[in-house]
Amino acid sequence: MTTLPQSLLPMTSSVGSNGNLCIGGVDTLALAETYGTPLFVYDEAHIRARCREAVRAFGPGVAYASKAFLCKTMARLVADEGMHIDVASGGEMHVALAAGVPASRLVLHGNNKSRRELRVAMEQGVHRIVVDSFDELDRIESLVAEGLHAPAVLLRITPGVEAHTHEFIQTGQDDSKFGFGVRAGHAQEAIARAQQSASINLVGLHAHVGSQVFDVSSFEKVIEVLAPIFNPLGLEELCIGGGLGVAYVEGERSDGLVEWGESIRRACAAHEVTARITAEPGRSIIASAAVTLYTIGTIKEIPGVRTYVSVDGGMSDNPRPVLYGSGYETFLPRAVSEPREAVVRLVGKHCESGDLLVREGRLPADYAVGDLVATPVTGAYGYALGSNYNKVPRPAVVFVSDGVATEVVRRETWDDLLRLDL
Ligand SMILES: Cc1ncc(COP(=O)(O)O)c(C=O)c1O
Repeated sequence: MTTLPQSLLPMTSSVGSNGNLCIGGVDTLALAETYGTPLFVYDEAHIRARCREAVRAFGPGVAYASKAFLCKTMARLVADEGMHIDVASGGEMHVALAAGVPASRLVLHGNNKSRRELRVAMEQGVHRIVVDSFDELDRIESLVAEGLHAPAVLLRITPGVEAHTHEFIQTGQDDSKFGFGVRAGHAQEAIARAQQSASINLVGLHAHVGSQVFDVSSFEKVIEVLAPIFNPLGLEELCIGGGLGVAYVEGERSDGLVEWGESIRRACAAHEVTARITAEPGRSIIASAAVTLYTIGTIKEIPGVRTYVSVDGGMSDNPRPVLYGSGYETFLPRAVSEPREAVVRLVGKHCESGDLLVREGRLPADYAVGDLVATPVTGAYGYALGSNYNKVPRPAVVFVSDGVATEVVRRETWDDLLRLDL
């Protein structure tokens, strides 16, 4: 099949009478005209639907992993849907607080939280701090000694489970910078220490095995490993982290959040875990809510080799293909339902041969310079992982809903690129 699988498009996608892709009732070509390219277009109804599924699957304590994509509007939206927010740095915490999300909805993560980050989290009264190391326990104890309240803590346990995903986004294996290892005996040691410490209010355990994990047996395995450690403690919460995979390209299929929740619940029941089960999905909330729009700037055909189609963005707005070899689909928003007979390599405008967005993209044969080209499923770890490499300004982000587009992050200007220079 050469047409774009419509399942990869945001939920409210439709084709206008002119053949153009509309999202949230807004014509994507009109969006590009108004806001320029590259442009991230997020379908608000799609994000809300995923948040509701997460809440249905795990209850209102489920957290959105904001590392996947965060801006003030996003923080408000997920809080509005009843979710908590996982923030993995002082910066993410700052954005969520600036958006007006109460600290009591925030869960602080990170394998090297600074004293400053911990102090702010404790002063503000975050819901949970997920403690990752013995040094962090020391830092919390010294902050409590200075007069701050003992925070509610989950200990991040490294269960020794290798999730089936790219090695850079595996986190549950023994050889990991994250958490307290079970096999090394660190988990048991940290639990004993936290239980004895008057400065730590230990409320539960946490594990996160990796990201873009399709095989739910990895999560079931975590519960099998953790249950014998967790159950005798009588703690109130077990957090299973995030990591549910999403389909990026034709032929991939992933479980939904509700199915994921059900499989985790079954595993908990099988291992007699009766505590509250929470989770912190990021990608599965936001990835397929967005498409990125680019403009084709140059086409270079090398006979017998391939055709390079260069766009006005690249590894600075989506480094996933370079980092992980991730695949994406390509399509022309003006011909979204048309067969895509041409095979092209979609590349960016950066000074790296490795700056590729789509290794084997497909487009209708009449694609041309000036056309709008799009990649779907770019809502997670695209804008968030982006950079200013080559001093390329960051794209704008728009949310669309019910026929209205709202610019939620403006495009960077060349002058913005000078704002830190002294
Ligand atoms: C601790 C933790 N929780 C949750 C997530 C979110 O994972 P995902 O976006 O794959 O759901 C991550 C991602 O790296 C993580 O490190």
